[in-house]
Amino acid sequence: MKITVIGAGNVGATCAESIVRMELANELVLLDIREGFAEGKAMDMNQTASLHGFHTKVRGVTNDYKATAGSEVIVITSGLPRKPGMTREELIGTNAGIVKSVVAQSLEVSPEAVVVIISNPMDTMTYLAVKGSGLPKNRIIGMGGILDSSRFKYYLSEALNCPVSDLQASVIGGHGDTTMIPLTRLASYQSTPVSNYLSAEELDQVKSSTMVGGATLTGLIGTSAWYAPGASGAALVASIVNDQKRIFPCCVYLDGEYGQHDICLGVPVTIGKNGWEKIIDYNLNESENAAFEKSANAVRAMNSVLADL
Ligand code: APR
Repeated sequence: MKITVIGAGNVGATCAESIVRMELANELVLLDIREGFAEGKAMDMNQTASLHGFHTKVRGVTNDYKATAGSEVIVITSGLPRKPGMTREELIGTNAGIVKSVVAQSLEVSPEAVVVIISNPMDTMTYLAVKGSGLPKNRIIGMGGILDSSRFKYYLSEALNCPVSDLQASVIGGHGDTTMIPLTRLASYQSTPVSNYLSAEELDQVKSSTMVGGATLTGLIGTSAWYAPGASGAALVASIVNDQKRIFPCCVYLDGEYGQHDICLGVPVTIGKNGWEKIIDYNLNESENAAFEKSANAVRAMNSVLADL
């Protein structure tokens, strides 16, 4: 098993480290455009092998796509991160060019790969990859919903004072601060609705903290977060390479599902060796459907910017 991570920055290196610590591959290639950067990160990671006890070989390269040939999964993290006060959407101009070119170059040498998109604005970058690559839609997966759901569970666990492992909760829709939809109605604490324990005001607070979860961290750290984004990417890769069929909210191309066409948005999907395999129907109620429609309209407006670039 060979996995490539494009972009050796905060998110890419953290994702790569999670993948090697889980021994998901025998070879992991880390590629960056910055001379020597991926090589350095790879060497540092390899020097932890005896400490963590993993056997994956990490190879860092500067823009050398030949070294990535034959990868089964390619994770795209290259691009600008957010700075405080920026929305994910403001990254579109720069990141669209980067994502388009790295996806094309990667697939040229790994035509059978499943592609995971992490670069922001993630919904639009996933759509760009689907449209630009010509790959079957199931082989392109945007990661955002896993991250947003892990933040949702974090804020729920704080409010409930319970371990996150006792919670089930999903965020669907877009991956923007105003487009994501934390599904409070379906969130559960050991098979009971969280609304049994939290008031409507408390649930609203959890929901809004989740929606600005990334911006809160950007404000504190000065750049986009990386631990949870990296770990979320690795969880997705694990379900692909081990064909686990886990259900994750991921950004995928919709062709009528959830009432949407020709757009990539976060919905629950099973993830296995072929990429995303099945879309799960959450049977949204009227207000959730309205929120999904609103989210889709915002993402569609963002996608339309691609035509002008
Ligand atoms: N090819 C390869 N690597 C590139 C390219 C390119 N064309 N352009 C930029 N990069 C690399 C940069 O050199 C840098 O090392 O992408 C890396 C990005 O790393 P960071 O700046 O640390 O950004 P990071 O926090 O990792 O975020 C990356 O993930 O979560 C999203 O919003 C975030 O879009 C951003 C992406």
